[in-house]
Amino acid sequence: MMYNFTAVVDRKNTGAMKTDTQAIKEMLNLNCNFYDDTIFMWVADMDFACSKEIINAFHERTDKLIFGYTTQTKDYYDSIINWYGKRHNMKIEEDWITFSPGTVSAIRNCLRAFTSEGDGVIIQPPVYYPFEEQILETNRTILRNELVRDENNHYSIDFEDFEEKCKDPNAKMFIYCNPHNPIGQIWSKDDTSRLLEICEKNNVIMFSDEIHCDLIRKNESFVSALNLPHGDYVIVATAVNKTFNLAGLQITNLIIEDKNMREKLNAYTGKILISPFSMEATIAAYNQGEEWLKNVNDIIEENADYISQFIKDNLPRIKYNKPQGTYLIWLDFSDYKYRGQELLEKIAEEAHLILESGSMFGNVGEGFIRMNIATPTNTVKEAMERLYKVFG
Ligand SMILES: Cc1ncc(COP(=O)(O)O)c(C=O)c1O
Repeated sequence: MMYNFTAVVDRKNTGAMKTDTQAIKEMLNLNCNFYDDTIFMWVADMDFACSKEIINAFHERTDKLIFGYTTQTKDYYDSIINWYGKRHNMKIEEDWITFSPGTVSAIRNCLRAFTSEGDGVIIQPPVYYPFEEQILETNRTILRNELVRDENNHYSIDFEDFEEKCKDPNAKMFIYCNPHNPIGQIWSKDDTSRLLEICEKNNVIMFSDEIHCDLIRKNESFVSALNLPHGDYVIVATAVNKTFNLAGLQITNLIIEDKNMREKLNAYTGKILISPFSMEATIAAYNQGEEWLKNVNDIIEENADYISQFIKDNLPRIKYNKPQGTYLIWLDFSDYKYRGQELLEKIAEEAHLILESGSMFGNVGEGFIRMNIATPTNTVKEAMERLYKVFG
């Protein structure tokens, strides 16, 4: 392997949120002690060093000495167009690409540009909780189309309820998550087609957050909303942030085919400039990062398989399905008596593991825990041993 995925990278004195105890207490509302051996497996960035191709691109850029205002070059756009063309058969045109400093801020800007205060926005809990936060903080109304879970811990979409929600004259936008954080499922082509059809019929904008689409297991496939029949009101979010462990650089590209939609968004946000480092990172990631990503996906697969076996052998009261996509796992602890913060704090205090409580992802996540497994396999093994000591 050309890259080292076993080393534990020291993130001290870098402002890393993942290991910042004050940030953790505030963001997770967690009241616990931290220990020398505490392992941090919560927020979604990876413990793997960034690819050397990207690091080299940073070095080359610093050698150019001036970091002034930057506009996206043809190489930048081509790197995005080629990546999605090659890997996902998406035919993106340069004009359709709108840079945004991060996906969450893109969602917030789209809410403000395309909807009004009081309008309804549909989400599918349990889902990445900043969706809900953006809707509430912009004074829009949440319409919850809850996912339905079966006895095998598998989720599906309640289309009847979704259609009801879309028919509400107040409903203006739907924030779709595919692959879905935190449950790790990839929605099928048929699921996405059906949702697109219902949205189009009811003039509901689909914001399709597809930023995990390159973090998927070997035998899985992903189809973007952009590749399926759709009306004008579709926005697809793509990002090197998640795929190449560049979350701190906040590099998201929205793909919006409809000119009027793009103009409306741009009129709301004004010109947003990209940083020179973000531009170089994107070009290096998409043009040279495929091998690194393949290795990362292999490790995530290995970690996910290890956890499947470990739970089957040692912790059968926890329900877990290997995620089809993302590097997040969704563990159902509801067979134990602990819930929400109590469960999270017990794990932090007794196993010295910082994870995320399922209840943050909606009431339907009560009794669940989300764990980030984009970390060396030895760390995953240690974490599972610790859970076994507390819950075995
Ligand atoms: C589905 C999803 N959307 C958005 C984000 C956040 O993206 P960004 O850091 O680009 O705002 C995450 C981060 O975990 C995510 O999982």
